[in-house]
Amino acid sequence: MSILVTGADGYLGWPTALRIANRTDDRVILVDNFARRRWVDEIGSVSATPVAGIETRLQAAEETHGLRNLSFVEGDLTEKSFVDELLAVHEPETIVHAAAQPSAPYSQINGERANYTQHNNMQATRNLLWGLEEHDLTDTHFIETTTTGVYGAPEFPIPEGGAVMENQGESDDVPFPAMAGSWYHLTKSHDAANMRLAHSQFDIPISDVRTAITYGTETEETRDDERLKTRFDFDYYFGTVGHRFCAQAVAGYPVTVYGKGEQRKPFISLEDAVEGLAELALTAPEERDDDGLVVYNQVTRAISIVEIAETIAGVGQEFDLDVAVEHFENPRDEDEEHEMEIENERYMNVIGGQAQTFQSGVRDILGTLVEYEDTIEAHEDRFLPGVLEE
Ligand SMILES: NC(=O)c1ccc[n+]([C@@H]2O[C@H](COP(=O)([O-])OP(=O)(O)OC[C@H]3O[C@@H](n4cnc5c(N)ncnc54)[C@H](O)[C@@H]3O)[C@@H](O)[C@H]2O)c1
Repeated sequence: MSILVTGADGYLGWPTALRIANRTDDRVILVDNFARRRWVDEIGSVSATPVAGIETRLQAAEETHGLRNLSFVEGDLTEKSFVDELLAVHEPETIVHAAAQPSAPYSQINGERANYTQHNNMQATRNLLWGLEEHDLTDTHFIETTTTGVYGAPEFPIPEGGAVMENQGESDDVPFPAMAGSWYHLTKSHDAANMRLAHSQFDIPISDVRTAITYGTETEETRDDERLKTRFDFDYYFGTVGHRFCAQAVAGYPVTVYGKGEQRKPFISLEDAVEGLAELALTAPEERDDDGLVVYNQVTRAISIVEIAETIAGVGQEFDLDVAVEHFENPRDEDEEHEMEIENERYMNVIGGQAQTFQSGVRDILGTLVEYEDTIEAHEDRFLPGVLEE
């Protein structure tokens, strides 16, 4: 029996693979093409935390946690022949699909990168879904980290899944409309639709995990050995909002809030995200009370941008960081007071109802980043856009 984790060299995939391997004797097959390392290099930045080579990572997992059930396969999931061989050889019972180009700003740089992002993400997912059908693996549980961004920012509480549509006095449950706000986010709306189709045509059990903005540097498995650290990007393109703010704080820069910053965004800690994915991967689909296609809102709280900045300023004092919060004109077209109410009961059940607080997550990040202050300072010009847009 084996479990496939795609994107396993990435920020979420690597600690997820470690958590799964720690909880099972099954073989965990890690797949990646190292594209993320190249994208960040291309925009002239680096991960603040050192990212060991994959062989070193696997060796450290064995030495530190006794994990001998991890194997790595390098390959590009957009190549159908690679995916076919991968599935034929390993016949996975579960796939955690976390491979994607995940940056909205990167996908927005120009048409070439929008095309690249949409082709990369959607082709990889299609190859996996069709591969399961064509290799007679339609009992394989397919779990994908899509994004809470598929919902856009509607003015009503976001359901955990579809929506109800009413017309002329009649109503029905329908998939959530593709209201995503970037060329990247829309790849996940399309993936959600394709997963739905694959479920209805091939009967593949699907968990569509709508992942919120994930923050954090460590999980239980990564903290004991520098070689096990996951990446942490802080540049304009690949640093998500909380991460970039924390890095700015460590580099002695004011934290930049665009506009009023009262809009709330959905968040989850790395620990809570990894825990949920591992739980889903290790639970047989038939144990779930559903029809085999389940949407999880992988979010623990909506937090306003101003609250993020102020929490970092507060926790920063514990690390002798004097953090100023500054407001800049918003380059993005967004509602600066959006409430973002989002239902998450189903996901909270998966992680046992308990979530890390945002404050403890920020403490975790700042505690790690102060160790790598020099790396951040050497690339502090990367906090702002520009390198690929001149
Ligand atoms: N980190 C977040 O805040 C967040 C939020 C919502 C959704 N997600 C989703 O979670 C998943 C993981 O995100 P992440 O933050 O770890 O990103 P990441 O870029 O660190 O990880 C993705 C990995 O996939 C690999 N990859 C990409 N295309 C590939 C291909 N064609 N073939 C093989 N490997 C490929 C990359 O090399 C990378 O290592 C993505 O699907 C992303 O869209 C992440």
